[in-house]
Amino acid sequence: MRQRFVAGNWKLNGTRQSISTLLQGILSGMQDVKNAEVAVCAPYIYIPLVAESLKNSAIVYGAQNVSEYESGAYTGEISAPMLKEFDCKYAIVGHSERRSIYNETDQQVAAKFVAAQNFGIRPILCVGERLEERESNDTENVVARQLDAVIAKAGIESFREAVIAYEPVWAIGTGKTASPEQAQEVHAFIRQRLARKNPEVANLVQILYGGSVKPDNARSLFAQADIDGGLIGGASLDASGFLSICCAAN
Ligand code: PGA
Repeated sequence: MRQRFVAGNWKLNGTRQSISTLLQGILSGMQDVKNAEVAVCAPYIYIPLVAESLKNSAIVYGAQNVSEYESGAYTGEISAPMLKEFDCKYAIVGHSERRSIYNETDQQVAAKFVAAQNFGIRPILCVGERLEERESNDTENVVARQLDAVIAKAGIESFREAVIAYEPVWAIGTGKTASPEQAQEVHAFIRQRLARKNPEVANLVQILYGGSVKPDNARSLFAQADIDGGLIGGASLDASGFLSICCAAN
């Protein structure tokens, strides 16, 4: 049985004040979350604040990105050993906003995945198709390509210490959610793709759904056989909404 997992992706949002309030709100309702691991992925600069606020709590945290390099002349970057120093458990890699706005390639995403794991940080690898790719029946090709780049570089065994998030780009921040059946279809495809290399690993890896998950649609998504939780953007900025989504994993 795979552990349920709900992770918040705050993106470029928050202030010291709003983050403290949000975390207090989430912490105060955590006793109702019986079944899921809960994580928040904060903007880098707030990670020390998050670490301090979540000390001795049941909530873990991570970053939204990580450099593929360990150190050196890479102005503006943050490396995996830096994140490790602040006890980040997770780092999102390959989010569609990184791929599209910052032109991150499949190879770069794979390098980030490896860099995180080299320092004991679990990557949350995002994959997903754009609307025109779905409409031209390319969803499986795109997801397979994104996945295969990481398998080729990191090896199938590396997925023992990683999480996958299927996030159809057309559903992110748009209010359009994939139907539970549409999402399940792709989740099953991802698991089968991994199973071709190693069925045991495929069976244990958590695959999250992301893209306009809200309190009112989380339960039906999480009820699908291959959906193990969610990666939550907008709805993770509201404590009670985020908690309802976490409870939907109960
Ligand atoms: P959303 O974002 O929940 O706001 O659609 C999800 C994500 O980008 O991870």
